[in-house]
Amino acid sequence: MTAAPQALVFDAYGTLFDVHSVTRLADTLFPGRGAALSQAWRTKQLEYTWLRSLMGRYDGFDVVTADALDWALESLRLEAGAAAREALLAAYRTLSPFPEVRGALEALGRGRPLAILSNGHPEMLDAVVDHNELRVFFGERVLSVHAAGVFKPDPRVYALATATLELPAEAVGFVSSNGWDAAGAKSFGFRAYWVNRAGAPVERLGTAPDAVVADLAGLAGLLGG
Ligand code: 2OP
Repeated sequence: MTAAPQALVFDAYGTLFDVHSVTRLADTLFPGRGAALSQAWRTKQLEYTWLRSLMGRYDGFDVVTADALDWALESLRLEAGAAAREALLAAYRTLSPFPEVRGALEALGRGRPLAILSNGHPEMLDAVVDHNELRVFFGERVLSVHAAGVFKPDPRVYALATATLELPAEAVGFVSSNGWDAAGAKSFGFRAYWVNRAGAPVERLGTAPDAVVADLAGLAGLLGG
């Protein structure tokens, strides 16, 4: 049997924090359109990370997130004033964690370091981690792609985690709800744990995750603490 990973690295958005927790605010601003706006915003946000990376360009995730919001609003023919736009962007700093996150981190962090590795701009990540009082689990190991100047799934991003943890990739478990991110992590050499919150099919990217769980409580059951 393979030994348990010596450290666990978590994706942030969609894995620890529910990006669609902005839906309520969006629905208040645009009644009946909140879910559509949240979906379009997230989809375009990810596309803009991949496209920038392919173009050899980089802007912080705060810029990408704002650009994606503007595109999503226009695509849905929604007019947002400056205050509404600022409120939506600010909501990214106070996203809610999924309900099982704290309990799962308590179990998974027993006897091994935990880290975050995210597309998020460092200030965005620090804000959402501190707002939700999750710093206790990660300390300074809240890592941003910003240090690599490129987005996931570029291998230079995943290398930030092995450098910080001073562990070989095969000793590290990478946890993501984003199937493409789990595939990128597996391709890099991590053990990949896919948190398939959406019940999505596995990505056809030439890799397979080491394990698939429905949520982080499932991962805590698998890896114990
Ligand atoms: C993250 O890096 C992929 O958005 C996701 O946090």
